[in-house]
Amino acid sequence: MRVSFASIAALVPVTLAASVPEARGTIDPSVCGLLGWKNWGQWHYTTYDGCPDLITSCLDNFVADGTHNPWAIQSCVAASTCWGPLQLNEYLQCNDTSYEPLQAPGLDYNSIYAPIVGDCAYQDGGCPITTQNFVDFIYGSLSAIGSTGYPSSVDFLTQNYWSRITAWTATNDSVPYTNFNDWLFYSNA
Ligand SMILES: *[C@@H]1O[C@H](CO)[C@@H](O)[C@H](O)[C@H]1NC(C)=O
Ligand SMILES: *[C@@H]1O[C@H](CO)[C@@H](O)[C@H](O)[C@H]1NC(C)=O
Repeated sequence: MRVSFASIAALVPVTLAASVPEARGTIDPSVCGLLGWKNWGQWHYTTYDGCPDLITSCLDNFVADGTHNPWAIQSCVAASTCWGPLQLNEYLQCNDTSYEPLQAPGLDYNSIYAPIVGDCAYQDGGCPITTQNFVDFIYGSLSAIGSTGYPSSVDFLTQNYWSRITAWTATNDSVPYTNFNDWLFYSNA
């Protein structure tokens, strides 16, 4: 069964962590050349070797696809969790100044979200991303692009990355579709 974003959005209770979503990821193109991307692949001073690989794959696929739809690209979703969606969006905007992050389609349910959570994605109301789902998604995303830059441990991954997402969504240790999508669009993380 294929389910549209709109029908899922209607099923899943909306919990907006941020009361007033801010415009985000909109960068003045004139500064792009000055950034040097010195925080390349780092988020809160933390990184793992595969994160730059995910960013590179994301950019290549984003450019090749050309529809300004990063959240339908697995490596972009994975890269957002290791670099932060704000920094990733700015990087994509510097590559393509006609890309407007807030106009991007929501996280693709059938091609990205459902494979993360499994068959329960299509149960009534869907199901949230668990910690284990997140870990499997990151390891799977690295494997899919041929990267061997795995995080040093599962604990490292959950403590430095997943916990930051769950802290923002405030949904305990698992994150429903709508909240994860909100994090991508509005967290300014
Ligand atoms: C955008 O990324 C593509 C793919 O890596 C690259 O070939 C191109 O030069 C980049 N363009 C800009 C303006 O950064
Ligand atoms: C949060 O998650 C923990 C660990 O899975 C669980 O023990 C606890 O009951 C959950 N709390 C709420 C409010 O759901």
